[in-house]
Amino acid sequence: SSSSSSTMQQNPDGFAQIDLFSPSKINLFLRIVRRREDGYHDLASLFHVIDLGDEMSFAKSSSETKDTLVCEDASIPLDESNLVIKALNLFRAKTGIKQYFWVELKKTVPSGAGLGGGSGNAATALYAANKLCGDVATEEELLEWSGDIGSDISVFFSTGAAYCTGRGEIVEDVEPPLPLTTKMCLVKPSIGLSTPTIFKALDLDKRSKAEPLDLLKSLNADGCTYENAINDLERPAFSKLPELGELKDKLIDATKEDGAVVFMSGSGSTIVLLGTDTVPKFAMEDDDLFKSKARLISRKKGEWFVPSNV
Ligand code: C5P
Repeated sequence: SSSSSSTMQQNPDGFAQIDLFSPSKINLFLRIVRRREDGYHDLASLFHVIDLGDEMSFAKSSSETKDTLVCEDASIPLDESNLVIKALNLFRAKTGIKQYFWVELKKTVPSGAGLGGGSGNAATALYAANKLCGDVATEEELLEWSGDIGSDISVFFSTGAAYCTGRGEIVEDVEPPLPLTTKMCLVKPSIGLSTPTIFKALDLDKRSKAEPLDLLKSLNADGCTYENAINDLERPAFSKLPELGELKDKLIDATKEDGAVVFMSGSGSTIVLLGTDTVPKFAMEDDDLFKSKARLISRKKGEWFVPSNV
């Protein structure tokens, strides 16, 4: 696997700095089970952490009032609306430790992609804050707390492959259903999709009827197939963004020969090409599309991903 313990160095202010890799995720299947009273949806999904990720550096700050978040990407909010700041606020609230932090974020994962990029940043920030404060909390506690700030943050405290239920915050580690060497490409139009909008557009009557645990069984037995790579959020996403459905169809056509299975991740707008490391020519030539190869990754509990090892 691709993880090891964090690297320690001094940052310019004299505080110990840790450099971590903040991964993203895909959903190998995503079933929506029901709409809840609180506006959320119970889901059942096989999440897998992947090696498309951001680089993050953390150090304690001498400030007694606020965290400092540095990011060159102008589209990323640096205030309390950023999940990183929410994660650090949560860490202080839960532990009672009045420590502020300096965080540098180098973004690679697109936003509005269904890849949980911001959620991965929040999980990485919780891990880092706890590490810099001497591991005052266990990883199980961090996982439990993380559900307070978003639904798909907890999965990043799994070992890589996780069957997630509830809002997504109930995380059960599973044996990776696919080899970590499985080839994969991601293709995303420049337009992203907002998760609440897609959940609102979901027509529960038009969901798949497949039992989530049958999908998991099929995934384990047969690998990823068009029968088990079901995402209930594809229909509402394609109704909101018809070009995305057209893109998926074109990607299916163009990858038939290499046996890829093509599906949307999370609430979109990333389309996953599982089983190939070749992006079709039409997509390569389209500058409006984000393209990346990716791999499934896993880690040992107690360690985090570091840039040099992913
Ligand atoms: O939990 P998070 O803040 O990531 O979710 C954003 C929004 O997505 C929620 O406010 C809700 O509208 C929708 N959502 C949902 N069911 C989930 C996860 C998210 O309806 N399981």
